[in-house]
Amino acid sequence: MELARTKAELQARLGPARARGAHIALAPTMGALHDGHGALIEAAARSADLVVVSDFVNPSQFAAGEDFERYPRDLQRDADFAARAGADLLFAPSVAELYGTVTEPLSATSIDVGELGRIWEGALRPTHFAGVALVVVKLLGLTRPHSAYFGEKDYQQLCVIRQLVRDLDIATRIVAVETVREADGLALSSRNRYLDAGQRQQAAGIFAALQAARHGARAGQRDARALEQVAREALADFEIGYVALVDPDSLRSLDALTAPARLLVSVTLGGVHLIDNSAIAPPGADDGP
Ligand code: PAF
Repeated sequence: MELARTKAELQARLGPARARGAHIALAPTMGALHDGHGALIEAAARSADLVVVSDFVNPSQFAAGEDFERYPRDLQRDADFAARAGADLLFAPSVAELYGTVTEPLSATSIDVGELGRIWEGALRPTHFAGVALVVVKLLGLTRPHSAYFGEKDYQQLCVIRQLVRDLDIATRIVAVETVREADGLALSSRNRYLDAGQRQQAAGIFAALQAARHGARAGQRDARALEQVAREALADFEIGYVALVDPDSLRSLDALTAPARLLVSVTLGGVHLIDNSAIAPPGADDGP
């Protein structure tokens, strides 16, 4: 696997691959790679000739007071991990290299992703999705991949990116990869490492809450508020950001579970912001394990 620290190095490696018609895939990450990222890279490697992993802690998606400085960074470990998972190229630019500056505003151009960026996570983090959209457009523009891989763990981000490529006619296929979980159900996240042992144990309750609501649906409950309440009760020990039963594409709140939907959960535990979600099917329909 090769390492590109600059846009020029990235282009030098991609140019010949593009010229010979190689299928290029991109797995965008902020580093601190774990098996969730591994699943993105492995899925990309199964269908592409050249797998690019970007490794960039993007300042524009963090607000003041969030964990940008604290976010874990270990390029050597990430390089070893990405290589093992099947990456061909790790693109790890500095902020100055990617944005051309280190002073605010990092970019004169900003991207408003509309209502999808203002609800749920966007209501708690009002500048977040504009920052994600900006860096993803830059990474897609630099890499021009045939396909790009994103985890379902950040479900709202996935929906924002699908909308972005549709609205801006970006010719990249967006591929969603299922959330990878620990044995007790906790979704893998780079932020899990901020949790102490007690909090880590408690964090398994997030998945239990999602499962409790799904069981409620299987048992015949269709009322959205009642299903959200089941999850809220299971999250009694957490500071809840939101629990929302939503349409799986628009993420608009639903009144009743009459078609396949998504249940979104956001909590804070010991100051650590954690999100998770699950598909949830109406009573009588199969929604998987
Ligand atoms: O999901 C992430 O790790 C980031 O939000 C992304 C998509 C790499 C953009 O910085």
